[in-house]
Amino acid sequence: MPESYLSAEEIADRVRALGAELRGSGGEGALLLIGILKGAAVFLADLLRAVPGPVDVAFLRARSYGDRTESSGTVEIDWPGPADVEGRDVVVVDTVLDTGHTLAAAVADLEKRGVQSIRTCVLLDKAARRVVPIEADLVGFPIPDLFVVGYGLDHAGRYRELPYLATVEERDPRMETNDG
Ligand code: IMP
Ligand code: MG
Repeated sequence: MPESYLSAEEIADRVRALGAELRGSGGEGALLLIGILKGAAVFLADLLRAVPGPVDVAFLRARSYGDRTESSGTVEIDWPGPADVEGRDVVVVDTVLDTGHTLAAAVADLEKRGVQSIRTCVLLDKAARRVVPIEADLVGFPIPDLFVVGYGLDHAGRYRELPYLATVEERDPRMETNDG
C-alpha cells in the first residue's frame, strides 16, 4: 500500500471548511459545482455536502495530448452531460492543481458560455509545478512536488478508492494517465 500523506479525517476537516468558505464568499443562491473527471469525483461528492444551502453539480472532462508525464498546452474539454451553465455562479472543482493547463482550459471553456461568475477550488495545490500562471480561489492544502494517489486520484488507474491521500514511492511517468 502507498504511504499515507493526509488522513481521511484531515481531508474531511478541510473539506468542511472549504464548503463553508465557498458559501460565505458566494452569496445565497444555488452554486453550480463543476468537477473535472475523473479525479475530482470523490472530492466533489464530499464538497457538495459541505456547502450550506443549495448546490447543483455538473462534470466536464479534460484530456491533454502529447507528453504523458504532465498535461500539455493542448487540453481538450468535453461535456459528458449537458453544459447548462449560462447565468450560473459556477465553481470549477479539481483535486490537484499541478501545471495549471487543465484548470486554465476549464475556465476558458466556461468563460465562453455566459456564466454569471466563476470561482475555482482545488484540494491540493502544487505551486512549484506551475507552468500556466493560474491560482485557485480556494485551496485545501498547498503541497510540495509529490505524486499523490487516493481520494479519487490514480496512478495508472490504481488507488482511486483509497479513503486517504498517499504518496507513491517511485514516480514512473510512463504510468501516468492523461484522462484525469
Ligand atoms: P495540470 O493540468 O498539470 O494542472 O494537471 C491537473 C491534472 O493532472 C489533475 O486533474 C490530475 O488528474 C492530474 N494530476 C496532477 N498531479 C497529480 C498527482 O499527484 N496525482 C494524480 N493525478 C495528478
Ligand atoms: Mg490520472
